[in-house]
Order: sequence, then structure tokens, then C-alpha cells
Amino acid sequence: MEDLIKKVAGHIAAAKHLVALTGAGISVESGIPPFRGKGGLWEKFDPMEVGHIQSFMRNPEKVWRLLISEMRDVLVSAKPNAGHLGLARLEELGILKTVITQNVDGLHQMAGSRDVVEFHGNFAWLRCMDCGSREQTVDIDLSQMPPKCGCGGIYRHECVFFGEMIPPKELDRSQIAASTCDLMLVVGCSAVVQPAAFMPVIAKQSGAMVIEINPEPTPLTGTTSTILVKGKAGKAMREITAEVERIIAAKRQQ
Ligand code: APR
Repeated sequence: MEDLIKKVAGHIAAAKHLVALTGAGISVESGIPPFRGKGGLWEKFDPMEVGHIQSFMRNPEKVWRLLISEMRDVLVSAKPNAGHLGLARLEELGILKTVITQNVDGLHQMAGSRDVVEFHGNFAWLRCMDCGSREQTVDIDLSQMPPKCGCGGIYRHECVFFGEMIPPKELDRSQIAASTCDLMLVVGCSAVVQPAAFMPVIAKQSGAMVIEINPEPTPLTGTTSTILVKGKAGKAMREITAEVERIIAAKRQQ
């Protein structure tokens, strides 16, 4: 494992334009459950019932109550872990240019990452479905369900539900980042939800190397990605970042 960490750190330190794609797995060590796999949200709920725009339109109160009960408290108290902090440090070192995240938890920004594409939106903001006005989730009165705007319209989170398009600006920025990077790091991502899972394929087709960090192999492993660091994001990123710093310090001394 030590050799693999050194190898990955070497690739990162040599990269001119590193882009990261992150999924729910990077936030597991911050106490946020993933969607798939053991303990995942989709073990308890049917994603098509909770996560589909048509379910929300049919019964916004039910979806609101589930989202709030399952996600609000966890997201409000979650703090970035070594995975998020490692990516922020790589940006500070000038190696990492963009984080594309499928997560709606805001932890990359909290860790200090500045260029973050929120591919599936975020949980922090709400939008009125009638007049479009925006409010922060923490500021909203939850005594009435579903919460409503002054105009009478229902608020929804600025998250992308199943059945909805990825916002064009985020899709564009991600495609540009994926096609211009020379290395893509895919962290904690099951790579089964499209179009996010296609970003590493675009990177590979554009000539980049793709490296994964995940305790489990994914559909990308061995096809699109050439290296899988099999483990938890926090531990792996802490070790990789420390090694990248060592390589950079050694180069400076030469
Ligand atoms: N560190 C790194 N990876 C981990 C860890 C960890 N500590 N724990 C779990 N994982 C991995 C799992 O092995 C899995 O591959 O994280 C991945 C989590 O997969 P998903 O729950 O499917 O999360 P994600 O890939 O982000 O899902 C994509 O699906 O339901 C939708 O909109 C939701 O954005 C989400 C999308």
C-alpha cells in the first residue's frame, strides 16, 4: 500500500492540471451516510420515491419530511474530513484546478476548496417553485410542511432530483474540466449515476490518467481508471497529500 501511495503521489505531483470527481464516499468519514451500499440511504428508501422529481411534485410534504428527517441534522453538524482537506491542500499547492462533486453537503467549500462544481446542486439553498426567490435552508420556518414562500409557492432544495437535467452551467464546466485535465482523481464515487460517471470517461478519452480512491472497485476500475487505491478517502488522502508535499519540498531543494 505504501508503494501505491507513493506512486499515486508521484503522478499527482507531476500533474499540470488535476481535477477531482467526488461522490458520497468522501463524506462518509464526516458522518454522512452514502446512498448505495451498507448503511446507505437507498437501503432504507426507494430512490424513485424520495429522490424523483415526480414524487416531489405529487407529494412535496412527504419528500420534504423524509429529506429533513434524514439529512438536515447530519448535514448541519458535518465537518470536512482529511479527504476534503487533502483536496483543498492540493488546490492550494496549485496542482488541483477543479473539484466536481456530486455531493450536496458543501464540505469541499468548508474545507477551503475554491473551484467546486456542484453537479447535483446543494442542500443549503431553497428555491420557490413559483417565483424563483432563494432562501437558505437554515433560515426557513419548518413548522409548516411543505415550507412556502411569501408568494404562496412551495420551496424546493436546489438539489438535482432524479428525472431532472443537470444544470447546463455545471454540466458545461464539468465537461470542460474533464476534457482539459491530465489527471482525474475519482474519490468515493460508485460511478453508476450518469452523467457524472461519464466525466472520468471524457477525461480518459481526452488523454488523462484516471485514479480512484474507494474501498470497493467500481465499473470504472480497470477500464477507465488504471489505479485503484483501495481504502477510505480520509486515510488515503492524508497519506497521499503528505507524500506530495514531501516530493515538492525535495524538488525545491534540488
Ligand atoms: N471513502 C471512500 N469511498 C467510500 C467510503 C470511504 N470512507 N465509504 C464508501 N465509499 C464508496 C463506496 O464504495 C461507493 O463506491 O463511496 C461510494 C458511494 O456510492 P454512492 O452512495 O452511490 O454515492 P455517489 O457515487 O456519490 O452517488 C451518485 O447517486 O443517488 C444519487 O444523487 C445521488 O449524488 C448521488 C449519486
